Amino acid sequence: MCGIIGYLGKQEAEPIILEGLKRLEYRGYDSSGLSVGDKNKITMLKSVGPIENLEKLIATNALVGNWGIGHTRWATHGAVTQENAHPHTDCQKNIFLVHNGIIENYQQLKEQLIKEGHRFVSETDTEVIVHLIEKFFQGNLEKAVIQALKLIKGTYALVVISRDDPEKIVVAKKSSPVLIGLNGNEYIIASDPSAIVSYTKKIIYLDDDDVAVVTKNGIQFTNLNYEILTKKTQTLEWNLNEAQKGGYPHFMLKEIMEQPQSIKNSLAGRVIEKDGIVKLGGLENIKARLQEIKRLIIVACGSSYFAGLVGEYLLEEYAGIPTKVEYASEFRYRQPVLDKETAVLFISQSGETADTLAALREVKRRGVLTLGIVNVVGSSISRETDAGIYNHIGPEIGVATTKAFTSQLVILVLITLFFGRERQMSFSLGQAFCQELYSLPALAEKILAQRENIENLAQKYKKYHNFLYLGRKYNYPLALEGALKLKEIAYLHAEGYSAGEMKHGPIALIDKNFPTVGIVFQDSVYKKTISNLEEIKTRQGPILALATEGDEEIKKITHDVIYLPKIKEPLMPILAIIPLQLLAYYLGVSLGYDVDKPRNLAKSVTVE
Ligand code: F6R
Repeated sequence: MCGIIGYLGKQEAEPIILEGLKRLEYRGYDSSGLSVGDKNKITMLKSVGPIENLEKLIATNALVGNWGIGHTRWATHGAVTQENAHPHTDCQKNIFLVHNGIIENYQQLKEQLIKEGHRFVSETDTEVIVHLIEKFFQGNLEKAVIQALKLIKGTYALVVISRDDPEKIVVAKKSSPVLIGLNGNEYIIASDPSAIVSYTKKIIYLDDDDVAVVTKNGIQFTNLNYEILTKKTQTLEWNLNEAQKGGYPHFMLKEIMEQPQSIKNSLAGRVIEKDGIVKLGGLENIKARLQEIKRLIIVACGSSYFAGLVGEYLLEEYAGIPTKVEYASEFRYRQPVLDKETAVLFISQSGETADTLAALREVKRRGVLTLGIVNVVGSSISRETDAGIYNHIGPEIGVATTKAFTSQLVILVLITLFFGRERQMSFSLGQAFCQELYSLPALAEKILAQRENIENLAQKYKKYHNFLYLGRKYNYPLALEGALKLKEIAYLHAEGYSAGEMKHGPIALIDKNFPTVGIVFQDSVYKKTISNLEEIKTRQGPILALATEGDEEIKKITHDVIYLPKIKEPLMPILAIIPLQLLAYYLGVSLGYDVDKPRNLAKSVTVE
């Protein structure tokens, strides 16, 4: 989704802003722009399409000056045009502004401003903000911004500059992330920490209703009542390599290949094999409260929701905790039955997904214990949950999640052990889990070594337009996630289904042109899943199976097999998603798509 960048310091602003915009590309965008200030002059350039188009404009228009703002836009209100791209400016071309979020009452504000003589040039909701600031501007930018914010309903991360209040950047936030990086007397503002990691690791996150005034003398934080705030500086643990492709053609492939290491990172320091227990620093303080919990609700979106479904099987089977999984976008508008014996666990890679965040706030309002599994340190969900566990896997840049998904599954196993060992799980079972968790990275390496084989299978299967993914029990959510990967990356229609449910309808689709990806390991539902695949074979449906190493029988009913090493049934999804990620990746690449910038998708969905 849209990306923001800003800079104020000693250096030329344009190259720093441009680099930041390029680092934000992965979030998805359709146009971009920047404004650079030099003494009392601000120059603005905007263009539709890839950032290279903006670079071409910059090449023929000198952009001198050491403060400025930039933006990558992902259209919500108004078509993809140069006028609708950010920055937006007022009638006098004095104030320049970039914005992430949605202004809900913009129509009403726009009508009023037009009556007062303001001239609008775009169809965006954002433009009303800059005209409101113009209306209130009397030489001091932050005062005008605060007055404007008091009239706005909606969400925003705003970064504003003004020709008539030069060498100053005003930043404001409500429900859309924004942070300021510090490097001596230089400041870089961004909507996403990965955009500035090459520049500094010292950052300050803004909270809702904060306003920051950045000048060469420092930053002053206030709330909307002008009360001065003291903010904490945090240190980013990510390094630059993690935010670069490191020799791989795509971030997606790099992150798939990183999984042995990211699984290790999520486990690091948390598993105590000799006692068969896990230590989760983030939950230690509330251990007593957790012992009273009798029910868990997991709330998330997209792939994080599918990870939650695996969590539901795990927590019920091994920790004996009744668990329910909900889409955040549904949960937030329902009247869920919550009580003091319920905890709600929010899963989010970005920690900024609008629906998940809104659901979290509603649960908090009702006084119920909230927990989080979040990757981005310091993100809104990580800050607002009562307690939680970080994934510790560095930035995930690929739009379609890969390493964050496997890490979420790992953490759900850790949470199950944490609850399970306090309740019904035996020492020996706890220890067996710990041992198998440690074996995951090496087994993941083994699967990744089959990359070429999977690439060849992608060549074979790329002629098909529709796919069915089938799995049972722990592998049912995996079928959903495998199908989602294919839709996102290869734009192929794919349905994930519970293998047993298939005969209640989808079987009607099966013929020789409708292949099935069958997830069929030698586990507690092996025989049942085999019967389901037999039904597909009878109807001439091609089958590509994911099976357990050494299973020769499976070849009798399937056309192609990807073999995976054996591991405990509930841990299998952590390994088995890897070939499905690779399959989607190679299908996307062989069909000629840019897998790092899948159409219509955004990395972090910060609007409803
Ligand atoms: C799919 C994908 C999305 C996200 C979803 C939630 O590949 O990446 O479905 O899982 O948008 O995002 P987070 O986890 O950041 O809340």
